Amino acid sequence: MPAVPDITLNNGVTIPQLGFGTFQIPPKETRETTLAALETGYRHIDTAEMYGNEKEVGQAVRDSGLDRADVFVTSKLNNDAHQHDEALRAFDRTMDELGLEYLDLFLIHWPLPSSGDFVETWKALEEIYRSGRAKAIGVSNFQPNHLRRLLESSTVVPAVNQIEVHPYLTQDAVRAFGAEHDIATEAWSPIAQGKVLSDPAITRIAERVGRSAAQVTLRWHLQRGDIVFPKSVTKKRIEENFELFDFELTEGDIGEISALNRDERTGPDPDTFNG
Ligand SMILES: NC(=O)c1ccc[n+]([C@@H]2O[C@H](COP(=O)([O-])OP(=O)(O)OC[C@H]3O[C@@H](n4cnc5c(N)ncnc54)[C@H](OP(=O)(O)O)[C@@H]3O)[C@@H](O)[C@H]2O)c1
Repeated sequence: MPAVPDITLNNGVTIPQLGFGTFQIPPKETRETTLAALETGYRHIDTAEMYGNEKEVGQAVRDSGLDRADVFVTSKLNNDAHQHDEALRAFDRTMDELGLEYLDLFLIHWPLPSSGDFVETWKALEEIYRSGRAKAIGVSNFQPNHLRRLLESSTVVPAVNQIEVHPYLTQDAVRAFGAEHDIATEAWSPIAQGKVLSDPAITRIAERVGRSAAQVTLRWHLQRGDIVFPKSVTKKRIEENFELFDFELTEGDIGEISALNRDERTGPDPDTFNG
């Protein structure tokens, strides 16, 4: 199996372009499922305080027998922890739950533009970053207007922006803003929680290349340059979603899948969501 490529973030830290998502994995299944992902070869795990499974993710990383330096772990600040001091406490809580000495990437989970203050919150993340306890910091669900405000009033440029992206929501404007400012795009719900898998354009390409619709969709993300971390609790799918590096889509395929965009979200709109 060819190796997962690394993406180099704007501070020189490298992140495996393919990871494993843990949203909606119940805590009692998380250790075993995350271990299955690590055994399959995933070296990048995405969690959050909101998912309630950081403790079990940390257990899996520790129990895997892998060197800590060989696994990239991301977690995210809870929506109730905006503001400077709350954010510092939330990071401590995350590290206690994970039981790890450092985090690879810590994100503000949602901008909460009318109820929170992400500029103040970001100052706390900058302190955490300078302390070395998080190797990189970034944001999630930020629109260009939120990023603009953040860039105007901070010193550390977010390493990533983790946003909803899939064939029905291609996010051209946010991705272009990220590319312009050296902010890597991470695509959450990369298969739209399964909704895109029966799309006729995707199934037709899948049939032609002899792959599943999920593999074709994930390959589309990788060839567009985004970072992805599909979630599954099913061992066969965990393996299937990792087998993406021995085939390629044509430019025509990429264009055809991108043309499926209909600006359709599976999750909340970041401009109006307030936690
Ligand atoms: N920052 C944010 O606000 C945010 C929001 C949402 C998600 N995320 C992150 O992004 C990750 C991925 O997003 P997601 O979990 O929402 O959705 P997703 O990865 O797009 O889809 C997961 C769903 O698809 C199914 N599935 C997975 N692989 C499949 C395959 N090969 N064939 C058919 N079905 C398949 C899974 O079923 P089974 O599990 O039953 O196999 C599950 O129901 C999350 O786990 C989380 O880490 C971040």
